[in-house]
Amino acid sequence: MENRKIPAHIGIIMDGNGRWAKQRNLPRSEGHKAGAKVFKQICDYAGEIGIKCITFYAFSTENWRRPPEEVQALMDLFREYMGEAQERQEENLQKGMRMHFIGHREGIPDDLNELFDTTEEESKDADKYDVNIAINYGGRLEILDGFKKIAADVKDGKINPEDITEQMISDHLYTAGEPDPDLIIRPSGEYRLSNFLIWQSAYSEFWFSDILWPDFTPADLDKAIDDFNNRNRRFGGV
Ligand code: FPP
Repeated sequence: MENRKIPAHIGIIMDGNGRWAKQRNLPRSEGHKAGAKVFKQICDYAGEIGIKCITFYAFSTENWRRPPEEVQALMDLFREYMGEAQERQEENLQKGMRMHFIGHREGIPDDLNELFDTTEEESKDADKYDVNIAINYGGRLEILDGFKKIAADVKDGKINPEDITEQMISDHLYTAGEPDPDLIIRPSGEYRLSNFLIWQSAYSEFWFSDILWPDFTPADLDKAIDDFNNRNRRFGGV
């Protein structure tokens, strides 16, 4: 689409890896591996087309309930990616990719938390776009974490309860300082938010598709953006 508006922030729920693997008689971990390749491709493409912020839902607070071998395979994939990100530090900096790991850090293996910190530190001067990877992320837990910080400020007398604003709550979330998502994409034929960016998505547009995440292509992202351009966003007005 000519002259299309690029959403400032896109959220993506990377769903359907397990079904993709099942269709091919492969273990679920192979679906996640294929999904990780697509994640990298879409991450690069987002920068190329000028998206300023993109958030990928990689592991939810509920995903710990999966069989231990699947959890292990996902953690190994994250480690592998972090290793690659460090090898390609220069390349990623040139691409302008600033990485953030959003989620509840407690519960994540220590070595992974350290890799998250190093990757964030090494990419902090990149200035083209922000890439959030949500790991051990839950929207309700994010709000709860923020609330605890605000409550502590109230207890310490730094703020009065009546001075708490919506902006203050936004500023205490993992996505502080980033725009709310304009568009949330969920492939794999599921029509729910699954605790993803629940505060931030108050006015987001949603794009659903039956494509399984490992089959998702840059052309699908373009299609979602084109459809977004045909939406009439009124933000409660007329
Ligand atoms: C949901 O599909 C997907 C996940 C729980 C994992 C998503 C993670 C990745 C794509 C890897 C990302 C990698 C990096 C490095 C960030 P599902 O397993 O629930 O699929 P199903 O509903 O078909 O079973």
